[in-house]
Amino acid sequence: MKPYNDNRPKTQQIRDMFDRIAPVYDRLNHLLSLGIDRSWRRKTVKMLAATRPRRVIDVATGTGDLALAIARRIPDIRIEGVDLSPQMIEIAQKKTSAAETQGQIPRDTISYSVADVEALPFPENSFDAATVAFGVRNFADIASGLTHMQRVLRPGGTLFILEFDTPHGKIFGPLYRFYFHRILPTVGGWFSKDRKAYHYLPRSVDEFPAPERLREIMTQAGFRDCHSRALFGGVAYIHTGKK
Ligand SMILES: C[S@@+](CC[C@H](N)C(=O)[O-])C[C@H]1O[C@@H](n2cnc3c(N)ncnc32)[C@H](O)[C@@H]1O
Repeated sequence: MKPYNDNRPKTQQIRDMFDRIAPVYDRLNHLLSLGIDRSWRRKTVKMLAATRPRRVIDVATGTGDLALAIARRIPDIRIEGVDLSPQMIEIAQKKTSAAETQGQIPRDTISYSVADVEALPFPENSFDAATVAFGVRNFADIASGLTHMQRVLRPGGTLFILEFDTPHGKIFGPLYRFYFHRILPTVGGWFSKDRKAYHYLPRSVDEFPAPERLREIMTQAGFRDCHSRALFGGVAYIHTGKK
């Protein structure tokens, strides 16, 4: 599914969309999730830390929130943040420099590059872990993107996917859908001046494979021992798999 109604390839539309909303992305993220997105990233980092990685690739790193959370929590780590959108990466770089200057993270912990997941500029078996937060949903081809992430992981390395899903509870489900399909696109549209971007968000979550199907896709991409952990009643999941 594409955000805009034109013939450009999805990857190009996604890059343009994130370039456009980059200046408001962080504020809107925290506002629309009531800050819960931060706790989900922290949980992901906690699970990642338990695997004791030395070198991590954070794909679809965006404005760097997950990469920074990893750098703050895990000592002696090296992180490569990769994203399609130059504007998102520019903000990630500024936030990272500020965190270095304030002594929150050691210098040269995180490097950033602009690249598509399907053209990662690293040799195979380069990383102990690969992470992707709220990015897989935007890939032009989920299976292909995950296959490319598998390529750069070392054998035994772990993939962590943090992604939205739709909760199905009898009361919470409809309430959440009302919020996600009505309130969020309206507020997101006002602040970002890109109404389509915040209509695309709930529709892309609706179309995203259910956890069981995603684990099948992960398995086909070369991952084993795939698991999914529900967060906040199934609003989001952390999916993991091993190369
Ligand atoms: C919703 S943002 C998530 C950013 C960040 N991971 C976070 O947790 O806030 C999705 C990001 O995925 C990036 N993205 C989408 N498709 C991509 C692809 N094929 N390759 C690399 N990055 C991609 C977008 O440019 C955007 O910055």
